[in-house]
Amino acid sequence: MSAEQAAELIPAGATIGMSGFTGAGYPKAVPKALAERIGKLRDAGLPMRVNIWTGASTAPELDGALAEVDGINMRLPFQSDAICRKQINEGQMQYVDIHLSEVSQYAWSGFLGKLDIAVIEVAAILEDGRLIPSSSIGNNKTWIEQADKVILEVNDKQSLKMEGMHDVYYGTALPPNRRPIMLTKPSDRIGENYLHCPLEKVIAVVETSSPDRNSAFTPPDQTSARIAEHILNFFADEIKQGRLPEQLLPIQSGVGNIANAVLEGLNSGPYKNLSAFTEVIQDGMLKMLKSGTLEVASATAFSLSPDALEEFNENIDFYRDKIILRQQDISNNPELARRLGVIAMNGLIEADIYGNVNSTHIMGTRMMNGIGGSGDFARNGYLSIFMTPSTAKQGAISAIVPMVSHVDHTEHDVKIIVTEQGLADLRGLSPKQRAKCIIENCAHPDFKDRLLDYYERACASGRGMHTPHLLEEALSWHVNFEQNGKM
Ligand code: COA
Repeated sequence: MSAEQAAELIPAGATIGMSGFTGAGYPKAVPKALAERIGKLRDAGLPMRVNIWTGASTAPELDGALAEVDGINMRLPFQSDAICRKQINEGQMQYVDIHLSEVSQYAWSGFLGKLDIAVIEVAAILEDGRLIPSSSIGNNKTWIEQADKVILEVNDKQSLKMEGMHDVYYGTALPPNRRPIMLTKPSDRIGENYLHCPLEKVIAVVETSSPDRNSAFTPPDQTSARIAEHILNFFADEIKQGRLPEQLLPIQSGVGNIANAVLEGLNSGPYKNLSAFTEVIQDGMLKMLKSGTLEVASATAFSLSPDALEEFNENIDFYRDKIILRQQDISNNPELARRLGVIAMNGLIEADIYGNVNSTHIMGTRMMNGIGGSGDFARNGYLSIFMTPSTAKQGAISAIVPMVSHVDHTEHDVKIIVTEQGLADLRGLSPKQRAKCIIENCAHPDFKDRLLDYYERACASGRGMHTPHLLEEALSWHVNFEQNGKM
C-alpha cells in the first residue's frame, strides 16, 4: 500500500519501533507520511503525538520531520537531530538516553512499556517470508519480535547484493536464561543472514526507492591530524613495549573528523590485517579493507558518504565476507568488548582534571546527542581512548575543566585522554597523578596555568587529599562562560 495508507494505520499515542542507525537503514516514506498526517491534525486543532524508539540516530526525514510537527512525545535511545535537540532542551520532548547495547534488554524486560508497531526498512522480502536487512540492523530483530504489528518498507535502493552480509543472532535471552555468546573474534558469524517476521503481524508493505541520507566526508583538519598522530605514536610505543600485538586489538571508532583522521593514519601506517569490532562502518574503514590494513569489520550499521556508498555498491562482492552487520545488542555487547579486548576510541565534550568525561551535556544541562555506544565500549574496552580538541567555540571554552558539569564516563573507565596538545595515559595513576598528567599533556596553553593553580589551591585547602577540589569554585568555569561568554 502507499506510505500514506500505512501511516493511517498508526494510532495516536502509539509507541513505534523504527529501524535506523546513524543515518542508515531508516524507513524513508512512512515516517514522512505520518508527519504530514500529524501536521494536518495539528492544524485542525487535533494534536497527535507518538513515541519513537530506534537503533540510534536516523535522518531529517524521520526525526526532523516528526519533531517539526511536534509529533514526538518520547524518543529513545539516541538522536543527533537539530530539531529534536531543541525540543529536548526546551522540555517539549522526553528523551531517554540509554547505552545502545542495553536497549533491547530494556524492551524485553518490559521497562519501556508496550511496543505497538514496528516500521522496518528491508532490502527485500524472500518468497518464504524471510527479510534481507538493509544498511543497518540496530534493534530491528527486537522491534519485530516485540511489536504487535509490523510495517515493512522495501527499499530498492538498498543493494540486494548485501544478502549474506548480515548476522542476526536468535540466541539472546533474559537472565537467568542467558547462554554464552560463542563469538571469539570479530570475523565469527554466529547467526543467520535474515530477519524473521510472523506473517500475521505484517499490516503493510510499502515500496520505496530512496538512498540513505549520507553526509559528505570531511577530510581531517589540522587539529584532528595532530590528535591522530598522538594516538598512532602511542600505539607504536605500546607495541614496542609488548603491551599490544602488532595487529593491535579489535578497534572501535566513533564517527567524525577525529575518527577519520585516526583511521587515515592507521591506513597509511605499517599495519596489516587489523580487525574492527565497532558500531558503524565509515569511509575510512572501507579504505582500510581495500588496502588490507583491515581484514574484517563487525558493526551494526554503515555511515558512508555518498561517494563511499557508490564505491561500496560497485564492489559489494569484495566487501561481502569482510563486513558483518549484527544487531546492536551483539555489535556493542559489553561482555564481548571485554573478552575481545577492544580499543575504544570516542569523542568527548569535556573532561576534568581527574579523568571524568562528559560526552553528552553542554554546560551540564543541555543535551547534545546522547551516550550512544560509547559507554558499551569505553567501560569494557582493553583501552578506552577519549579524544577532543583542547578548546571549543574559538577558544572560549576549555575541554579540560576542574570538574565536569555532567558525567558519562567515570574516572574508572577512562584510560587515555588525547587532545591536539598531547596524550595523557592515565592507567595505574592515582587521582592526583592523573590531574598533573592531564593538565600537563592535554590542556590548552591558554588554560593550563589556571588549571594548575586550581589544583594546587585545592591541594592546599586542607580538604580531602585523595581527590582535591574547591567545591565553591569547581563549576565556576562553566558559570563564567554562561555569564561572560568565556571560561
Ligand atoms: N562546551 C560547549 N560546546 C562544546 C564543547 C564544550 N566543552 N565541546 C564541543 N562543543 C560543541 C562544538 O563547538 C560543536 O558545536 P557546533 O556543532 O555548534 O559547532 C559540537 O559541540 C560538536 O563538537 P565537535 O568538536 O565537532 O565534536 P564531534 O563532532 O566529534 O562530537 C561529541 C563530539 C562528544 C558530541 C560526539 O562524539 C558524541 O555525540 N559522543 C557521544 C556518543 C558517542 O560517543 N558515540 C560513538 C560511540 S560508538
